[in-house]
Amino acid sequence: MTTYTKSPLTVALALGLTTVLLGGCATDRSAYNPSPDVIKNAMAAFKRDFDAKGSASLDRLNTDKLQDICNATNSKPSPDMAAVVEREQMAAIKLPADGNLLGDWKAGEKLAQSGRGMTWSDKTGIPNGGNCYNCHQLSPQELSYGTIGPSLLHFGKIRGNSPEIQKYTYSKIYNAKAYNACSAMPRFGHSSALTEAQIKDLVALLLDPQSPVNK
Ligand code: HEC
Repeated sequence: MTTYTKSPLTVALALGLTTVLLGGCATDRSAYNPSPDVIKNAMAAFKRDFDAKGSASLDRLNTDKLQDICNATNSKPSPDMAAVVEREQMAAIKLPADGNLLGDWKAGEKLAQSGRGMTWSDKTGIPNGGNCYNCHQLSPQELSYGTIGPSLLHFGKIRGNSPEIQKYTYSKIYNAKAYNACSAMPRFGHSSALTEAQIKDLVALLLDPQSPVNK
């Protein structure tokens, strides 16, 4: 079976599980609460029927402990469980060795507005975009943006540019789940979707007073 010919059951399971895996994309996440069996069967169907193509490799179907907990609890782990996984995620954050967290906001803006990378139609080896616009408002000039995440307009103007805020912003982009175990925001640094230099550029986009985010 190829990627393009799927049984109706596989498609139905895939649609259901996409809601579980991507969270946030559903309008009401609490409305769908799959049993562990549904999740197990859907994962098995994905692994059986999906083929690797280009940069869309199958290893991304493997879930880690945090994703297993979020899937099993419909993204509502107990406060104790959330605290444990958040501590683990936080401990795995790698801050830049040079201690400088601010890159180039212009490069950050291009990244934030690019959703390219990691799909089968993308050339392998091209740098990934950050896809931030798909979930966040970033500047008044944007024609359209997603609203799964909060608006980041005036982020630096409101929070300032202190070392603590720089560290928070870098770490949040590196691994949002270190602060919010089952956040719908991808773990850009943790998963190596973005490089250290790219995350620095995004921190600058959010915090530099000259960036359109803060105009
Ligand atoms: C799939 C949706 C999604 C994408 C893509 C996404 N985010 Fe988020 N983001 C969220 C959600 C949801 C929250 C709020 C929940 C939380 O804090 O985890 C959030 C929170 C944040 C926060 C914390 C805001 C605060 O008030 O402290 C920052 C900063 C942030 N995102 C930056 C980014 C950047 C930069 C990108 C692009 C690299 C990005 N996000 C991509 C969904 C997303």
